[in-house]
Amino acid sequence: MELTDQIEKGAAILREGGVAAIPTETVYGLGANAFNEKAMARVFEIKRRPFFDPLILHISDVKWLDNLVIDIPVSAKKLIEKFWPGPLTIVLPKKSIVPDIATSGLPGVALRMPSNETALKLIGLAGVPIAAPSANLFGSVSPTTAQHVEEQLGGSVDMIIDAGPCSIGIESTIISFMNEQPALLRPGGAELEEIESTIGKVMIPERTDLMNHSPGRSEQHYATSAPLLQINDIKEISSIGIDKRIGLLSLGPIDKSILPSNVKAIECLSKNGDLREAACNLFAAMRRLDACWVDMIAALPVPNSGLGLAINDRLYRASKK
Ligand code: TXA
Ligand code: MG
Repeated sequence: MELTDQIEKGAAILREGGVAAIPTETVYGLGANAFNEKAMARVFEIKRRPFFDPLILHISDVKWLDNLVIDIPVSAKKLIEKFWPGPLTIVLPKKSIVPDIATSGLPGVALRMPSNETALKLIGLAGVPIAAPSANLFGSVSPTTAQHVEEQLGGSVDMIIDAGPCSIGIESTIISFMNEQPALLRPGGAELEEIESTIGKVMIPERTDLMNHSPGRSEQHYATSAPLLQINDIKEISSIGIDKRIGLLSLGPIDKSILPSNVKAIECLSKNGDLREAACNLFAAMRRLDACWVDMIAALPVPNSGLGLAINDRLYRASKK
């Protein structure tokens, strides 16, 4: 089906209470009308996601903000101006029009205006905010192509809108304005450095404290079937055991001649070690390694700056079983 026809059909499905997978620039989302509680309940069921883990509402126009939130602090306005449409989600005190199921009963609602053209058209045409978590089963790797969604959820959604691979490929950065100081709930596609240069220092909650801010930030997430181990050096592979088939995940190219023979597959995230390109390739690379029937995925370190912060967060959480 032509993309314009997909958008029209998808918008009607969403408006009328169906569930459709939608492309965004970060990852594919599992969309539902944010004013339709039944439709959102189905999203939780399809994903097998616990109801305590709230959904992000996607809008195509800032005019929605006045309807959805009580107050927008000046710093939040600055971020909206700088980053929307784009990979930044902000959490603000919600108005009662936002159903509790969307926020899991929390007083804050997470909002984002995606930059993906198809997403913007779909949301605009649907005429309502669209609640959408990533379109994967709870706890597994997020989808960056329509094919990824089809593989996991194809049988249970009303439609998958295919607008090609996601251009950013890692989820949005989430900043909460529910406390005095803005807090980073999840590093993502918008760089923390750029956010801080816009609004000043952002609080970074301790991992152990994150669940109190964002219930979905449980440690274990992004799980591949094969366990993922973070290593600091290729030399550590030999201590994993020579009988184990290893899939190696590396930021830059690897000299194959120095690798032990039990490394059966290699994924290099970016030939030039570019963190933006690496973030974009990360989830698909994790899926490909998993598909090689390796016993373990070994992930080499990535610098903790720019998009590296988001990559390391996903690798850390993928390593928690
Ligand atoms: O890039 C993205 O953000 C993608 C695309 C589809 O927009 N969406 C996404 O949604 O990653 P999801 O549900 O997979 O992750 C959203 C995270 C969860 O950890 C959830 O707990 C947190 O955002 N969250 C959502 N609403 C919240 C709220 N009201 N307060 C605090 N955390 C919230
Ligand atoms: Mg997710």
